[in-house]
Parts: sequence; C-alpha cells; structure tokens
Amino acid sequence: MTKERTFALVKPDGVQRGLIGEVLSRFERKGLKVVAMKLLVVTEDLAKSYYSEHIGKAFFEPLIRYITSGPSVAMVLEGDEAVAVVRKMMGKTSPIEADPGTIRGDFGLHIGRNIIHGSDSLTSAEREMSLFFSSDEIVDFERTDEQWLYGE
Ligand code: RTP
Ligand code: MG
Repeated sequence: MTKERTFALVKPDGVQRGLIGEVLSRFERKGLKVVAMKLLVVTEDLAKSYYSEHIGKAFFEPLIRYITSGPSVAMVLEGDEAVAVVRKMMGKTSPIEADPGTIRGDFGLHIGRNIIHGSDSLTSAEREMSLFFSSDEIVDFERTDEQWLYGE
C-alpha cells in the first residue's frame, strides 16, 4: 500500500450549486479519509500562487476570477494512491469530455466551471496543502473501517 495525501478543492460553482455534500460523500464512500477541511474565499494572491503554472495562458485571468468568485471548500484526503484516485474520480478537465460516473462528468458542462480541483502529483499535493493549511490543521487519525478497506 502507498499511503498518500492529496489536496482537493470544491470550487465556487460546486459550493453555489449545493454540491459540497455530494463531492465529499463520494470521497468518503470510496474510503478516502478527510484529514483537513475548511470553507474559505480564495484571495487573488492565493489564487495566483495556487495556479502559478498557468500564468500567461489565455484562460489565466478568467480562472483567477472564477476561483476567487465565492467560497470554496478545501480539503486534504488520505488513502492508498490518493493522488491518482482523486484525479480519476474528478474526470477530465472538460466536463464535456469527462466520463459519466466522474464528478465533472456527472455535474458539469463547461471547462471554466468544472466543480472540483485535485492535485495532479505528489509534488503538487505537498505544495497546495501547504498553501491552504498549516501543519497543525492536518490531523492524524485512524478511521474505524480501515481494516475493512485495506485488509491485513
Ligand atoms: P485543476 O487544476 O483545477 O484541478 O484542473 P486540471 O488539473 O484538470 O486542469 P488544468 O490544466 O490544471 O487547468 C486548471 C483549470 O483552468 C481551467 N481551464 N480552462 N482552455 C480553457 O479554457 C481552460 N483550460 C483549463 C479549468 O477550470 C481547469 O480546471
Ligand atoms: Mg491542474
């Protein structure tokens, strides 16, 4: 087993459309453990650091307006290969291309309003977790179902 922690964000459209519970419920039922969570309005400074890889692209300014446009829910999820599992559950960047059964595939219609973010690598996960959470906001604990999720 490769226990990982990844960062996910229910974006402002997900919050406004009442999808916090739906998204969280999918991750919880999968077996991912929520080890940190908060609701916040992402500031312009934070948005620019968080999406710094996209500076200069045509969609950068609209992306910053989108992500700062209202409250988001930030979380850290833990589990076996959590980075890849969350990316798979999110679906492709464009909700039109995302498969049914994925979050973007089931709930979105536009690339610029795609409900959820998830880290794309362990390196990104580390960087994004530290942008949104201090180390004492991330909690170590065991879920009682772990032996049933992972076996011996
Ligand atoms: P995210 O970072 O939000 O999890 O999304 P991602 O990895 O699937 O996609 P990425 O390439 O990192 O793009 C970041 C966000 O920018 C918006 N975007 N718009 N062509 C476009 O108009 C375009 N491309 C990307 C999306 O909201 C995407 O989630
Ligand atoms: Mg990305």
